Amino acid sequence: MPKRIPLPLPKIRRDSMPIEIALAARRSIRKYRKGEAITLEQLSQLLWACYGVSDPSRRFLTTPSAGATYPLEIYVAVYPGGVSADWGFVDPGSYRYDPYSHSLELVKEGDTRYKLFKACLDQPWVLDASVAIVIGAVYERTTSYYGSRGVRYVHFEVGHAGQNIYLEATALGLGTVAIGAFYDDEVSSIMGLPPSVKPLYIFVVGVPETQPSVKESEISSFILANRKE
Ligand SMILES: Cc1cc2nc3c(=O)[nH]c(=O)nc-3n(C[C@H](O)[C@H](O)[C@H](O)COP(=O)(O)O)c2cc1C
Repeated sequence: MPKRIPLPLPKIRRDSMPIEIALAARRSIRKYRKGEAITLEQLSQLLWACYGVSDPSRRFLTTPSAGATYPLEIYVAVYPGGVSADWGFVDPGSYRYDPYSHSLELVKEGDTRYKLFKACLDQPWVLDASVAIVIGAVYERTTSYYGSRGVRYVHFEVGHAGQNIYLEATALGLGTVAIGAFYDDEVSSIMGLPPSVKPLYIFVVGVPETQPSVKESEISSFILANRKE
């Protein structure tokens, strides 16, 4: 089993979905086509959007970070048959995303699907997805500069990273949902997180059963109706 999987290089597609369409179409999607894989290219784009390198000269990432302290650590649970590559399916397991080499590093082999489902209070979409992206934080990277206020900054940052996943998933035609309801200790142990990394947020991703449609006229009518006395 390879210990490191170099991801396909991130693509900055000029013909990608316009930001307003992605914002309007972004929804929490909980129904996925069961057993359908996402591609390694799609996973690569999601991870790059979440916390990938966007300013190589300063080693800055796609997510804004207080003092560029970058406290977040991104892990991925690849479910069996969840990610397809040219050479077959990516081996199931827990992987750490290294933004600087844009690679996955194997942390723990094996199927985490059912254990994560249980750790996330039996939320069915955790079982039906193809992967789960677990965002953790090393608080000290930020609190060592900003003291206790750094805790707040870490929580802002994880929200930025999560929104990046939502918008990229929308642009890729994938479905995702933010998961805040889970048992921290169980998730840490399932994913093999080191003690310094506290799990904060999970995004399960899959191929959606249906895509939300963008309805500009409905949005406009709603806003106009709210202007009437
Ligand atoms: C901090 C946070 C935690 C959330 N936790 C969960 C969760 O555990 N399970 C879930 O199904 N959805 C969760 N959600 C998604 C919300 O239910 C969803 O964003 C909300 O219903 C609005 O729907 P929308 O995202 O489609 O706009 C969470 C969202 C946020 C921002």
